[in-house]
Amino acid sequence: MSAFFAFGLLACTGGAAAPGDDDPADSGVVNTDTSDTDTSDTDPADTDMLDTDDPADTAAAFCDGVPTLAYTNFGEGFLRENCQGCHASTAPDRYDAPEDVFFDTVEDAWAWSARILARSTGEDPSMPPQGGVTADDRTRLEWWLRCGTPGT
Ligand code: HEC
Repeated sequence: MSAFFAFGLLACTGGAAAPGDDDPADSGVVNTDTSDTDTSDTDPADTDMLDTDDPADTAAAFCDGVPTLAYTNFGEGFLRENCQGCHASTAPDRYDAPEDVFFDTVEDAWAWSARILARSTGEDPSMPPQGGVTADDRTRLEWWLRCGTPGT
């Protein structure tokens, strides 16, 4: 919603707010409503949020209001349970998982984040090969790697 209002604010700059404009529909978007304390309306960064071609903006929409997940409160356990059986650098049997693909540390996980997302989230996830990860956990994986602070 904030993207919509940011757009309204932008679109109305320099015209709609002119004296004599008594269109009640304008009062929200031109921000004359004194009860509107949402200071993000004045954040210049907001005007950028409409650019749907920009992947960062899509992430902003996807990530709006999701829980903050990180390696310590989600990623480490998720990877240990679902991936490290084959991918850990110390795994006794890797079941042919490539030797250079392991998620032993938070740094390793983030170094592989794009491939982890590609293989384990979305419409047709292919890791782990045997499946078994719940839809909820795959969503949490996205919350962590798409919305979390990179490197954490
Ligand atoms: C049963 C063993 C096994 C498990 C468990 C497993 N993998 Fe894999 N993984 C493989 C094998 C085998 C390959 C190589 C073949 C391939 O790429 O499909 C591989 C390759 C990969 C690659 C590198 C190839 C690429 O597409 O970049 C990534 C990344 C990956 N796995 C992520 C994961 C993640 C994330 C999990 C846990 C959610 C996981 N894997 C669980 C066996 C496993």
